[in-house]
Amino acid sequence: MNVKRDLISIEDLSDREIEEIFALADEMLPERRAAKAGVLAGKIMATLFYEASTRTRLSFEASMQRLGGSVISCPDMKNSSAAKGETIADTARVVSSYADVMVVRHYWDGAAQAMAEFADVPVINAGDGSHEHPTQTLCDLYTLKKEKGSLKGLTVVICGDLKHGRTIHSLVYALARFGVNVVTLAANGMELPQYVIEKLEREYRYDLTPVSSNDLQSAVAETDAIYLTPNHPHQLALFTQVDRDLQGRIEGMAQGLKFDAFYVTRKQKERIKKDAGGQYPSLGEKFLKERRFKDTVVMHPLPRVDELSPAIDKDRRGIYFKQAAYGVPVRMALLQFLLTGSGARARSHRRMLLYRSPERLGPECPNLNCVTRTEIQSTQPCFELLPAGPGGALILRCFYCNHQLKVEFVGHTVSRRYCACDASLGETVMEWFTRGELAVFDSIKQAEELDYEPYKGGPQRSIMGEEEILTAIRQISKQIFKDGEGDERLALLGIKSKGAVLARRIAAEIENSHGRKVEAAEIEIFGGNEGIHRVAGDDGTTEPLSVKDRPVVIVDDVIYTGKTVKSALSIIFKAGRPRSVRLAVLIDRGHREVPVKPNYVGKHIPSSEKERVRVKLREVEQDEKDKVVIYSIIGAEKAENPEARIQSTGAGI
Ligand code: NCD
Repeated sequence: MNVKRDLISIEDLSDREIEEIFALADEMLPERRAAKAGVLAGKIMATLFYEASTRTRLSFEASMQRLGGSVISCPDMKNSSAAKGETIADTARVVSSYADVMVVRHYWDGAAQAMAEFADVPVINAGDGSHEHPTQTLCDLYTLKKEKGSLKGLTVVICGDLKHGRTIHSLVYALARFGVNVVTLAANGMELPQYVIEKLEREYRYDLTPVSSNDLQSAVAETDAIYLTPNHPHQLALFTQVDRDLQGRIEGMAQGLKFDAFYVTRKQKERIKKDAGGQYPSLGEKFLKERRFKDTVVMHPLPRVDELSPAIDKDRRGIYFKQAAYGVPVRMALLQFLLTGSGARARSHRRMLLYRSPERLGPECPNLNCVTRTEIQSTQPCFELLPAGPGGALILRCFYCNHQLKVEFVGHTVSRRYCACDASLGETVMEWFTRGELAVFDSIKQAEELDYEPYKGGPQRSIMGEEEILTAIRQISKQIFKDGEGDERLALLGIKSKGAVLARRIAAEIENSHGRKVEAAEIEIFGGNEGIHRVAGDDGTTEPLSVKDRPVVIVDDVIYTGKTVKSALSIIFKAGRPRSVRLAVLIDRGHREVPVKPNYVGKHIPSSEKERVRVKLREVEQDEKDKVVIYSIIGAEKAENPEARIQSTGAGI
């Protein structure tokens, strides 16, 4: 029996299936494909393009026709009922009754997935907003493999707009899977998004080099780049910024590396709201003259604008037109695989824990361009549940667009109680999830609007009071000032939310006691506004802050596993190379999973993993006083009733 098999993300295909498609593509090369002329006879493919396309649409249509199938096409959906306001859901329902497969390109992230849910026939994503472009990746991998023989151990430099480029996102996941080393060279403000990096870490075991605070200093001082070293020794990636021309930058960066390919991309102008300025990486004639690049091929998904000089066109290393030509055999292979081949008989290998809120109100995807935010009438937020994220936090990853959010509050639908979420609640939350009794809230307001009540506070111990917190902040401020030797460019980067409050307090303390103005900014790790921001106005508006060549101190309330600091570091390094990085925390709990050692600590509190430590600060809590409290957690297995368990553990908000 045939199954409906969609291709929305490159991850919908297993490695084995990708190999199988490549073997089929070999049979579809011009000199061999005559034998395939009737393979899809009688089948109809619909192409629905809400965004401009030359290669993707035409190569899909040529592929279908070469296989004996036929095509119905909406090359510009402005000339369809979409212009009259038809939802993508209705369009998908209708078109899937006319065709055997649909190829969709849309400007919203996640639109292809949403349409796949309403279509009875396979849907192929031909590019959805900034999210993914899996069929381009199949062409890219196939080209690279043909050119280099095999993929494993190659080093590919991806250049340009790594933030908005959907071809880049699908490509890096695939490169990681096939053991390719990735070096990233982003234009200013267009670095690889944090959700992509964390997916690479979590799923493909890429990792930042473990750092202690002392190592940090030397890593920053000695190199322009941070190495992402995976547990598999074959993968490697560097983060850097481009502010000179590409070749010069690479030479200064990593002398010993051999680069097998440059994958150059254009600036995705149509997706950029505010251009941060700065030079865009481009490849020119100088590249051709450099001996060390004599075997480096140049790829580009096209169209190019001015990031790739026509001088490279005639050189044997410029393989981008070949890459575009492979679009036909690869897409022929894909169509056969999905419609009559083994893809039509086997479901996708992907397994996820999916979470949809059982309540009327629940978490929203932080990405404003996500289809769950743009077409709310036919989509419902849906997330992959990722049990332990940075700092042991519970993370939800949007099923449609992959953007992440940190769970702040959880509720139990049966007892109608809620509390703040942290790592110590892990088992309980997973139990509620399994039973369909987990409610996730973005805010207390959301929970209370649904008549949830807070869990009552149980036994808790205060371990720091107002006075002690004040003294700790004074001491930390004094040491930071002393170590900074009066450097005027010092920046305090507080991790949002409480770290940012502490950073502001430390800055105020340094100004009061030492008469020196210090800049305090915030690092946002989750949400739609990731990056480093200066809070510009009283109304909370923010603007990006540069850390280039500045001494910076990361500030947070509690350090535990160290993963949050690691995420903050990767955001800092992506934003520019600081002169030094130090770390200040109010509380050090121990239990580090990443070897990061803070330089300034208010108080060491050796606590058990079952305990919850909470810093309450008057700026963010309803409590009017500052304090640090510790709760004891009783093992989940000891309580039958989750409410009783939470009450007895005192997991109050
Ligand atoms: C790409 C796309 O649409 O994302 N084009 C393509 O399919 N080859 C790249 C781009 O538009 O820059």
